[in-house]
Amino acid sequence: MLQGGNGGRDSFSSKFGVIAAAAGSAIGLGNIWRFPYVAGENGGGAFLLIYLLFVAAIGIPVMMSEFVIGRSAQLNPVGAFKKIAPGKKWHLIGILGVVSAFIILAFYTVVAGWTLEYLVQSVKWMLLSNKIGFSEMDNEAVRGFFSNHYETFVSGIWRPIIWFVVMMFFTGYIVISGVKNGIEKYAKILMPILLVLLLILVIRSVTLDGARDGLVFLFKPDFSTIKEAPVKIIIEALGQAFFSLSIGMGTLITYGSYIRKKENLANTAVSVAVADTFIAVIAGVAIFPAVFAFGIDPGEGPELVYITLPVIFQSMAGGLIWAFMFFLLLCFAAITSTISVLEVIVAYFSEQLNMSRRKATILAMISVGFLGIICTVSSEVFSLFNASPDLMLPLGGFFIVVFIGWFLSKEKSRSELSSNGAYRTRFYRLFMFLVKFVAPLAIAFLFALGVYSKVISLFPGIG
Ligand code: TRP
Repeated sequence: MLQGGNGGRDSFSSKFGVIAAAAGSAIGLGNIWRFPYVAGENGGGAFLLIYLLFVAAIGIPVMMSEFVIGRSAQLNPVGAFKKIAPGKKWHLIGILGVVSAFIILAFYTVVAGWTLEYLVQSVKWMLLSNKIGFSEMDNEAVRGFFSNHYETFVSGIWRPIIWFVVMMFFTGYIVISGVKNGIEKYAKILMPILLVLLLILVIRSVTLDGARDGLVFLFKPDFSTIKEAPVKIIIEALGQAFFSLSIGMGTLITYGSYIRKKENLANTAVSVAVADTFIAVIAGVAIFPAVFAFGIDPGEGPELVYITLPVIFQSMAGGLIWAFMFFLLLCFAAITSTISVLEVIVAYFSEQLNMSRRKATILAMISVGFLGIICTVSSEVFSLFNASPDLMLPLGGFFIVVFIGWFLSKEKSRSELSSNGAYRTRFYRLFMFLVKFVAPLAIAFLFALGVYSKVISLFPGIG
């Protein structure tokens, strides 16, 4: 299981395994649950355009920077900065990352638990369907049924907690079994299947009557939608880009530390970013035509996907079987993401605080468990946690690019990106320009605006 040349640390065993694991981290509820509802709340097409710009100009450079840091140090985010920049304060970025990991893991695992609820419900409905006539019910009835279900479920106490705990256990179990055996094995099989299922949903959704409006909403930028709340929309596009790519908190520093020296980092980063963005857009193409065809409000909020998907399933032959498969895969997609967040905490605990992997995982699970349970009972805490990546991740990303752009020697970053000269790095000057100037300035500017607008919204008097 251990690979040579990595100081005895565990590592991913193949090129495809690396991409699958990193893409497994990136692709998850962020694409299928968060992207459609955030895009829907922020006007659709114009949001998508800004989002794509951020992925290309900021996201990919940050991702490459994280890989460079992780692979050159072969350590968790805190240890990595301590090793590369000893005696400096850079490791605080790592600490910020570990703190972010707790917050993200808490609310994310709660939402992951919702997929289990829907999974179980789809089995239950399958068993009941002869009696309640699922396929004969009209859209309104099914929608009412599911959205009522969402309301009663989310506002209930025990079921969200139970599903959250189950998800935590799965995550912990896989993380304890280690990087290659656990993470890579599952990601390699499950990610491609999810894509196929999404494509089937897309076909159903775009062939619904009235689907066209949804495609127009998603793909035709209407900049008048931005005028109402430009700062909010731009910040949320940036935050969503970071969130979806799993960047800004050291997840990919940690995964980078498991990538073998001969792997091409730039290539990996671009492949992962393209795959992630593709899946988010495809999720949008699956959701919005149905949203418009069935008269659902695109600005519905976090429940958007959970009320739209069932209506799509309902309009498919064998809908409940599709529903079952989809929620099952969504649940796996969520797990390949939760493990990557938990891995940050576990790598930190075990490498910096000298704990065994098992002990580190259990400790992390208990502490995240507390936070997550608070999220299930308090919708305010849930919303706060869910909004926090929008500022926290760009902040982390800012320091990561500044570190690569202004602190780490060019020889070092270049030799890491070229795997010691094995790959060409013709993009290097563009990369440097982005990490030195474009990304830090853009993030700093947007971050300042974001903080300002948050303060204004909390204390309207001073505006
Ligand atoms: N990117 C994942 C998703 O889209 C969530 C995730 C995993 C994440 N690791 C992360 C988000 C690290 C931020 C930082 O579902």
